[in-house]
Formats: sequence, C-alpha cells, structure tokens
Amino acid sequence: MLYLCGHSLGLQCRSTARYVEDELRDWRRLGVLGHHAAHRPWIGYHQEAAAGLAALAGAGELEVVAMNSLTVNLHLMMVSFFRPDAARNRVLIEKSAFPSDRYAIVSQLEYHGLNPDEHLIEVEPRSGERNLRTEDLVALLEREGPRLALVLLPGVQYLTGQALELAPLIDAARASGACVGLDLAHAIGNLPLRLHDWNVDFAVWCSYKYLNAGPGAIGGCFVHERHARRSDLPRFAGWWGHTAATRFQMGPGFVPMPGAPGWQISNPPILSTAPLLASLELFGRAGLARLRQKSLALTATLHRLIDERLSRSVEVVTPADPAQRGCQLSLRLALPAAQAHACHVRLEAAGVIADWREPDILRLSPVPLYNSYQDVFAAVEALARALAP
Ligand SMILES: Cc1ncc(COP(=O)(O)O)c(C=O)c1O
Repeated sequence: MLYLCGHSLGLQCRSTARYVEDELRDWRRLGVLGHHAAHRPWIGYHQEAAAGLAALAGAGELEVVAMNSLTVNLHLMMVSFFRPDAARNRVLIEKSAFPSDRYAIVSQLEYHGLNPDEHLIEVEPRSGERNLRTEDLVALLEREGPRLALVLLPGVQYLTGQALELAPLIDAARASGACVGLDLAHAIGNLPLRLHDWNVDFAVWCSYKYLNAGPGAIGGCFVHERHARRSDLPRFAGWWGHTAATRFQMGPGFVPMPGAPGWQISNPPILSTAPLLASLELFGRAGLARLRQKSLALTATLHRLIDERLSRSVEVVTPADPAQRGCQLSLRLALPAAQAHACHVRLEAAGVIADWREPDILRLSPVPLYNSYQDVFAAVEALARALAP
C-alpha cells in the first residue's frame, strides 16, 4: 500500500502500541491507584502533552491543552469568544469551510437568536479563481470590521490545500476589534505555527491527521496567554478545568485553572491520549523545522512530476507557492465527474491511498514523517495509469 492520505488520517507510530499498552498494564495492575501511581499518572495526563503541543503550536505550555475533539472545542471556544452585541454580531468564515465548522457556527448564531443568512459572512475566491487572496481578505476585514464579532480562519484549507497567510489576516481582524479563531485541523504538525506571536485569540485542532494520534483521537485547543486569567469570560465549566490543587475538595464553586487547561471539562480519555504522546515524542525527536524542509521538497517533487507528466488531464488547485501550502496537493481531474471518480477508484485498487472530495478534488499528501521520494514517483506513475486505463 502506498499511503498519501495523512491529511485525513495519519499512520500509526511504531511506539503507539507501547504507549497504549503501558496504560492498559497500569490500569490492570493498579486500578484506581493509577491516577497517581501509573508510569504517567493519569491525574495530570493532559500535561504530558503540553510541551509537545506547545512546540508545534508556537505557544507557551499554558496556552495549549489536549482535550475533546475539534468541533467540541470550537463550540467551547465560541462560548467564550463569540459574544455578539447590537453592534458586533457577525461571524466571518470562508465559503468552503469544513462543513462541521459551518454547522457549529450556524448553530451558535441561532443559539444567540441571530439569523445566519444575515449574520454569517462567507468569503470566497474571486470569480474564476480557486484560492483566497490575502489582500481581498484584508479589504473585507477592514470593510466589515466594525460589525464582526468573530473571524474563523483555517490554517490550511481542507479542500484546496491553501495555507493562508495568517499573520496579516489575524492582524487585520484584530485591528477591526473582532475575536479571531483558527481551525488548524490541516495545519498542526504540517506547518510551523506561531500562535502566541500571531496573537490569535484561540485555535482548535484534531490530532488524527498530521499528528498521527489515531482515529477519533483527542483534539487540541489554544487560548492566548492574554486570556489566561480573565474572569470576565463566560465558559462552560467542568471539574477538570478547576484548579488542580483544590479539585478534590469537591467544593461547589468553580475556580478555573489559568490558561487553556481551565477550559477542560472532563477528565481526559487516557487510552486516546496515549497515542498522541507517542506521536509528540516522535515530533520532538524529528523536529518540525526539519520535517518542513523535507515536506517542501516532497510536495515540490510531486507537483513537478504532475506538471511534467499529467498537466493535460490534471489541474493542481493548491497554490504553487510553497509558502502557501503544506504537504497536500489537491488535484482537479479534467474528466467528466463519473470518470474522475472512477479514476480515484482505480487508484485505490492499485494500492494508492489518496482521497476524493466532492465534487471534483483528489487530495494527495506526501507526509515527511513516513513518505519517501520513491512513494511520490510511484504515486504519479499509478495516477498516470489510473487516468488512462
Ligand atoms: C478542517 C476540519 N475542521 C473540522 C473537522 C471536524 O473534526 P472533528 O470531527 O474532530 O470535530 C475536520 C475533520 O476532518 C476538518 O478537516
């Protein structure tokens, strides 16, 4: 099997089984005592991920936490950071945002008694273009700014693979007075991030793509340090967000931990967090900067081979500028819809795992942790055969 689908579900690290088995053994051996006596005590398990996540997010350890899943975290962040009033009551997202984000936002607008037709602004590329332009987004943010309560941007657009130029966009959104959140599902572990310096209010991600933490793995969340000790922000609280020192006094009053961990609700799922720890350890050893260097070369090779061999039947939708993309290339096949889809089926039958996104996009991602140049050459060879059976 030739696996180029890390943008959807990353592969299992060799050490994952050991990490999970450690927890199963401690649970078997220790029962409830594992909360304190386990090899990695469960009582502070979320902290085990903090250093690794902080390094990948470009954040302080207090600014990140592994918890829940992406859409749940987005809802929790919106409870705190989407505070519409009479003047500011709109949310700006991209037109082809991942549907779950749109569902979450529409449901939050409705929860606040707002009409999504009026209060949701969806920005799309210029007519005839596939990708968003920074200058257009900045102009829109300036124009709509006074009415915006929240701007939600993707790190990497899931369908096109475009990596947005986040720093100027965040600056423009914040200058307008809006809160800014990021969906980093396709960015974390893929691109270097500087969430703290970018001054974004919050970010959410899943860990099953480039973070290789397994299907349905625990997600993650960033809350900027400047919100770490704010007591005026509403939040949906639970006991795991309560100050650790007094949590087990079981008092009635909620006193949040400072920083992102204070947004936790429940105690963390140990068995779905263990694979994340395995993966973060690997990222720590490999180093994201080195992975990015290899990624740039792998994706450029894929792009060049497609241009050389398949340009008559394939359009690369992802920006050609390496600064505007991560691992992923999104291809539009210049075939009628049914034939394009059949091409993906043939590719998979030939053992090349990529994925198909309606209506017309084939996504391929060489991932530097586990893909090689050989994989890239073989994938293009297989795609050529699948296009002309
Ligand atoms: C860009 C993006 N946002 C949100 C989600 C939803 O993630 P979850 O099911 O973990 O909430 C996904 C899932 O693939 C995604 O790709």
